Amino acid sequence: MAATPGTHPTPADEAREAAVEKALARLDLDAKARLLAGQDMWTLPALPEIGLASLVMSDGPIGVRGVRWTAEDPSVALPSPTALAATWDPELAHRAGVLLAQEARRKGVHVLLAPTVNLHRSPLGGRHFEAYSEDPYLTGEIGSGYVAGVQSGGVGTTVKHFVANDAETDRFTVNNLVSERALRELYLAPFEAIVANAHPWGIMTAYNTVNGTTMTEHRYLVNEVLRGEWGFDGFNVSDWLAARSTTAALTGGLDVAMPGPVTVYGEALAGAVRAGEVTEAELDEAVRRVLRLAARVGILEGADPVVTEPPAPVDGDALAREIARRSFVLVRNEAAGGRAALPLEQGTTVALIGAAARDARVLGGGSATVFPAHVVSPLDGLTAALPEGTLTYAVGADPNEELGVADKGFTLEAVCRDISGTVIGTRSSPSGHIQWMGSDLPDGVTHTTLHTVEVTGTFVPRETGTHTFGIKGLGTYTLTVDGTTHFDGVRSTDTDDPFVSFFGAPVPLAQVELTEGTPVRVSLTHVVELAADAPLTMLAFTLCHQGPQRDPDELIAEAVEAARAADTAVVVVATTERVESEGFDRKDLRLPGRQDDLVRAVAAANPATIVVVNSGSPVELPWCDDVAAVLLTWFPGQEGGAALADVLTGTHEPGGRLPTTWGTLSEAPVTRVAPTAGELTYDEDVFIGYRAWDKESRTPTYPFGHGLGYTDWTYESLDVSGTTATVRIRNTGPRAGRETVQLYLAPTTPDENRPARWLAGFATVEAAPGESAEAVIALPRRAFEIWDETAGSWAYVKGAYEVAAARSLDDPRVTATIEV
Ligand code: BGC
Repeated sequence: MAATPGTHPTPADEAREAAVEKALARLDLDAKARLLAGQDMWTLPALPEIGLASLVMSDGPIGVRGVRWTAEDPSVALPSPTALAATWDPELAHRAGVLLAQEARRKGVHVLLAPTVNLHRSPLGGRHFEAYSEDPYLTGEIGSGYVAGVQSGGVGTTVKHFVANDAETDRFTVNNLVSERALRELYLAPFEAIVANAHPWGIMTAYNTVNGTTMTEHRYLVNEVLRGEWGFDGFNVSDWLAARSTTAALTGGLDVAMPGPVTVYGEALAGAVRAGEVTEAELDEAVRRVLRLAARVGILEGADPVVTEPPAPVDGDALAREIARRSFVLVRNEAAGGRAALPLEQGTTVALIGAAARDARVLGGGSATVFPAHVVSPLDGLTAALPEGTLTYAVGADPNEELGVADKGFTLEAVCRDISGTVIGTRSSPSGHIQWMGSDLPDGVTHTTLHTVEVTGTFVPRETGTHTFGIKGLGTYTLTVDGTTHFDGVRSTDTDDPFVSFFGAPVPLAQVELTEGTPVRVSLTHVVELAADAPLTMLAFTLCHQGPQRDPDELIAEAVEAARAADTAVVVVATTERVESEGFDRKDLRLPGRQDDLVRAVAAANPATIVVVNSGSPVELPWCDDVAAVLLTWFPGQEGGAALADVLTGTHEPGGRLPTTWGTLSEAPVTRVAPTAGELTYDEDVFIGYRAWDKESRTPTYPFGHGLGYTDWTYESLDVSGTTATVRIRNTGPRAGRETVQLYLAPTTPDENRPARWLAGFATVEAAPGESAEAVIALPRRAFEIWDETAGSWAYVKGAYEVAAARSLDDPRVTATIEV
């Protein structure tokens, strides 16, 4: 019976189960097998005979894209998952979830493909920005808040990617060799916590293999651990194209193979039952779980959804802004001219510098992409917040060395033609990016009739000079600019990643001299070649553009001049989509382009230099001791610039604490993300993140948990009674504030097989100046346990532990010793 683990099924649960059984009994083998196979990119088939509507899924995690991949169907874009984790506030994650459920309902989505709870095993992981933390406990807490929030809005989640999908290199095939102990203590731990705390309605199994078995067939981890030991009663969907077999997937616990229409389930599954390779009872188990999900989200007739009254409406723009400023981590704030550099003094003149200050990078690349209706850049945010005449702007350095999507200055439409060249449909295109999935085609167009798609329209240049045009995508193209054809041929690749059109590099194909304000016509025609047996019915290609490139030294010199003329310089540095994205891992942690040179030059010209770091995951900050302040803003979502203005001007304090250690690549202990001969051994075992830095006795640039606000705190006392720690702190600074009280546990007798210390609990508290506040934090039993490989169970490790109430891992304020 499906109920929250540890609770009894409610009458409503029982009624839903009865409806599920009734529906199941009315389905024949073929219909059941069909239900487990995606019918297109995002949906399952409807089965009208049992009153079942089509179930719709969508990415996740910072917004809800919906079934169309286009700016024409905008979504609220929240800050990146690293940012959400930096708030250290599961309650805020819950509120984010409620908003996402509202977005999902608005877009007709029943299941959100989120959250991503893989760990920051290495800073090189390409999807680092999309996961929460290097710490399993923090990840589990934030993930639990998020899942509970989404589901309180009646929308399902798929906690992903189960499990050990911690890097991108060869992600479809890599065999990750991980000890059971590291799995239990680290990689499985967030999933386990979320199942226990938030009862997710779904899970997504990963592309990768773990210890020799691909995750979509991992009977042990899925059926025995997740379902058996933990009591997970939701459905299990494959990552997109991850399922490879029919029988092994079904017996390995995979319920749904996505996307369709070509999958290993459907007809193939009905055939496997008929051939006696799997039993109908096994198939029924999977169908039951899908019907249960359908009942929960309210698309199975005769079953009441879990949520009948959606929560009160949430203002998405306001919440995006609140989360952003609560996530910003002030890692350095030194005295410049007698006072801390931040917040800015009223009337300060500011030179804002950096390409990302104008064209903000608000989200990470890949399936996490959504299209917000608007973006507030730092330039927009500060222009609105500062008095007129006190702000100047200079580019300084542009890290975008490659072509980007053709958007600013372009007015485009997509024209579809059949084989005879007759126009069969058109669709306006907000940018040069075309991504049509499944049946999402312009009116009147079908995959059978569609022969070419032409992206065509006008471009009005913002600057005079050499403009570069190019494409991203595979297949046959013709590119014409201003009446001249610059490319007419085929683009191919040697990678077998089916998503290369998302993650591949843009290719420059034409350089054209253009004049500011003088429109030219552009056209990119793509011949559609969709193989009948292609696993995806997806059409994806992009018209790309890059404006005239300025001399980098000249740009830096201009920025230095601007910095000299202002009281304060605010330099926004950033990574690019080619640095942080799904689909590949990072090669280094350096800021791309000349940004380090820029910061050094500006800091030399103005001691009051504040650096704002716009990246989803750690980058090296070789100049950090030479600048007045460093503020990490992650990928801050659509309201990032407004939140930045709030924090810089001091209307709000930056609330974030590091959810991951911030250091250099040469010092980082775990850096291997590429397999050798198909295998990636997690040699470091249970020592990742700060556990590894401790083991190597290395000091990172900024430790786990670090982050400054705008007030000061004194830690007055720590009392541990039983499994509850009570920490009394006082706001001894000049203004009201919020503090994240962190509890670390360390065995008093060091044991080289265990981490030296680890996060055991945390809480956020608020206090006015002079006031004290109490944080009451439970010490979970699990914090004292290790996984005993021999016994195959958890072992409670008795002995003496030091409990530290701390401002960060490296800033313990009060300690107590306990004996357990
Ligand atoms: C990603 C998933 C995502 C899915 C659908 C996959 O490539 O790994 O996280 O949910 O695509 O977009």
